[in-house]
Amino acid sequence: MSGDHNEDLPRHTADWPVGEPVGTNGDGQQKDGHHTAEHAGEHAEYGGHPAEPGQHLAGDSGRDPGALAQPAGIDEQALAAQGVDLQVAEIVAPEREIGVKVGDNLVEVRNLTVKFGGLMALDNVTFDIKRGEILGLIGPNGAGKTTCFNAMTGVYKPSSGKVLLEGQSIGGQKQHKITRMGLARTFQNIRLFGEMTALENVVVGLDARHKTSVGRALLRLPTHVREEKAAIERGMALLDFVGIAEHAHFLSRHLPYGHQRRLEIARALATDPKVLCLDEPAAGFNPAEKEELMTLIRTIRSDGYTVLLIEHDMKLVMGVTDRIVVLEFGKKIADGEPREIREDPRVISAYLGEPEDDVA
Ligand SMILES: Nc1ncnc2c1ncn2[C@@H]1O[C@H](COP(=O)(O)OP(=O)(O)OP(=O)(O)O)[C@@H](O)[C@H]1O
Ligand SMILES: [Mg+2]
Repeated sequence: MSGDHNEDLPRHTADWPVGEPVGTNGDGQQKDGHHTAEHAGEHAEYGGHPAEPGQHLAGDSGRDPGALAQPAGIDEQALAAQGVDLQVAEIVAPEREIGVKVGDNLVEVRNLTVKFGGLMALDNVTFDIKRGEILGLIGPNGAGKTTCFNAMTGVYKPSSGKVLLEGQSIGGQKQHKITRMGLARTFQNIRLFGEMTALENVVVGLDARHKTSVGRALLRLPTHVREEKAAIERGMALLDFVGIAEHAHFLSRHLPYGHQRRLEIARALATDPKVLCLDEPAAGFNPAEKEELMTLIRTIRSDGYTVLLIEHDMKLVMGVTDRIVVLEFGKKIADGEPREIREDPRVISAYLGEPEDDVA
């Protein structure tokens, strides 16, 4: 289970090349060692997005009222009890207009299929992500979870099937375009710019929001200076939100492993995603750290984001998700509320052979 990823995770940082993201071999793929080339340049999605005028509502007030009307609602007292600074939450909340109502389908994955030679890594998989929910994507090792993320976010071109965001197909788009459209993700194996500070890593994600041109930036015209200040403020708010603000000025490669995982989430949030896709964000964590991370994920949702969460640990995922999709050998074998999933004989049988701890 998640323990077997520990070996894959980058813990030796001394030889990370300048400008390379931390953990250049992605997505647990060192295991077979045959996919690295496919991932070359994968981190480009974070690099210098051009401005996208119109992506944010002109003069938007900074909050999308629909996003706040979450099914779970925002329990301000509970958030405060968890130590969430509500003013920070205000800055961190999504700013983007989303074309579907809370509870409606924000993402539709339809008959998604990915073949690697003779291997059907993802076989005709169909599911929805509803706006405002935390959807779990679970399954044993090699079930196709990361492949599903990769096909959704433009890392792999699906062999067939499609992915719709707010009813629009995002098939065939490049990764950075899909990120800008609102599907942000983290990686199973951390990818950060090791020679940049934590804050710089987040500001790179925020670049998508900038509206000034390179010329204005070079001349340091007032619009640019204002945007730069706003980017630093929001970057700091995001670092605070994920709990690592005091490390803002440390090189990301010097951060402890758990902080790097949190930084990845902050950077993904900086792109102002409509859907935040997290690929085993708690891999390599001890139970207490996992619990803390799940609290953060709940807070992210309470703040108005929609989350797709890959997690191995059934027990953990049961406690945080609203709904769960289960994959086994590339096929969807179950889709339902945690309670139903826990009792589903196919799911129980898929997890037989996994360590008892991880079976709810
Ligand atoms: N680029 C690739 N080329 C060939 N095979 C691949 C590639 N990517 C994934 N696979 C294979 O596809 C299957 C699904 O892998 P995937 O990484 O999606 O599983 P996963 O559910 O994320 O597993 P884990 O829990 O171990 O991360 C595996 O058999 C894997 O070896
Ligand atoms: Mg995986």
